Amino acid sequence: MGWQSSFDQIIDRCNTHCVKWDGAAEVFGQEDVLPMWVADMDFNAPEAVLEAIKERASHGIYGYGHTPASLSEAVVTWLKTRHNWAIDPAWLSHSPGVVAGLSTAILALTKPGDQIVIQPPVYPPFRSVGESNGRVVVENPLLEENGRYTMNLAELEEIFRSGAKVLVFCSPHNPVGRVWSKPELLALGELAMKYGVTVLSDEIWADLVFQTHKHISLASLSPEIGERVITFMAPSKTFNLAGLYLSNVIIQNEELRDKFAAQVGALAQGHLNVFAPVAAEAAYRKGQAWLDELIAYLEGNVAYVKAELAKITPKIKVVEPEGTFVTWLDCRELGIPPEELNQFFVQEAKIGFNDGIMFGSEGAGFQRMNIGCPRSLIGKAMERMAKALENRK
Ligand SMILES: Cc1ncc(COP(=O)(O)O)c(C=O)c1O
Repeated sequence: MGWQSSFDQIIDRCNTHCVKWDGAAEVFGQEDVLPMWVADMDFNAPEAVLEAIKERASHGIYGYGHTPASLSEAVVTWLKTRHNWAIDPAWLSHSPGVVAGLSTAILALTKPGDQIVIQPPVYPPFRSVGESNGRVVVENPLLEENGRYTMNLAELEEIFRSGAKVLVFCSPHNPVGRVWSKPELLALGELAMKYGVTVLSDEIWADLVFQTHKHISLASLSPEIGERVITFMAPSKTFNLAGLYLSNVIIQNEELRDKFAAQVGALAQGHLNVFAPVAAEAAYRKGQAWLDELIAYLEGNVAYVKAELAKITPKIKVVEPEGTFVTWLDCRELGIPPEELNQFFVQEAKIGFNDGIMFGSEGAGFQRMNIGCPRSLIGKAMERMAKALENRK
């Protein structure tokens, strides 16, 4: 395995007020847990981002910001070059995070009691943004066969037919790592059109797709499908800027755009902190090469996890990720009751994973492992895991 990347550098994040490391003892109820949970990475952002933030910080005045048109240009260019999606800049706005944007869209487009569809096992806030806003969350679980997940489109059609008006769609999918294919997306888009459903397409992971796959934005498939979609993207996962809170909201349909904008206004959510646009623009303009290296490094991490796990036990299987920096570990054969599994890793292996159950009942027996870290940390986790499993024998 290659160990000579800048991504191999260990950067101590303790005492930087970061939730992954500084919050780990509280979350896992135990000191010395190697944190492989919340989805940010233990890597520096690209150098161009660091420079841009330092330059802005050195100005010294941090009064109210103004989002520059140059950010919009940078996003439009990024979408065209990276995703072959030509958007009109008028379709673009920003929100302080994708989850904030999802919640805003749900408030804008639905009423209490309306049905919101999710596809578990899925990123937990998909459920909570519906439930906490008093909407009825309807599940359309993914199908799993031999470690590969697909959508249950037949069931989804039934759900749409029975009146659901919004689907919260995860593309690429966290935690199962699917990068949806064109036929899958087309089939989904057809259903959305047929039943007049609006798809909130969370594409926060769009840029982190492995070289064997290609991300396709649902809204880019056709202007007709585009009319039914609100797309959320962000530089946050891509360039490790989640704590800056900026995401992109792309809405082709004017009526949806107006409703969304009105809700943003009602929630007084239309402002960004002054560092976010500066960082995002630098990342989109100058971060291409860094991102390509990152993707190759993450692919290496996946291969490493698979190789190490194969040596440790055949009872933990890696669901092959097609992108993202989270891996979905199928631990069902370990024979540990699902409700004890996360604590086994925490207490006996001293590793902090996200418990699969958080993503829905379909996640029982699974753990989500964040591999957005130097490979040596993964090595450390693997050693701890091997020892803990050995001790159980
Ligand atoms: C699918 C998905 N959406 C949204 C988020 C979080 O987005 P934000 O921090 O911009 O609210 C995550 C973070 O893991 C995610 O996986």
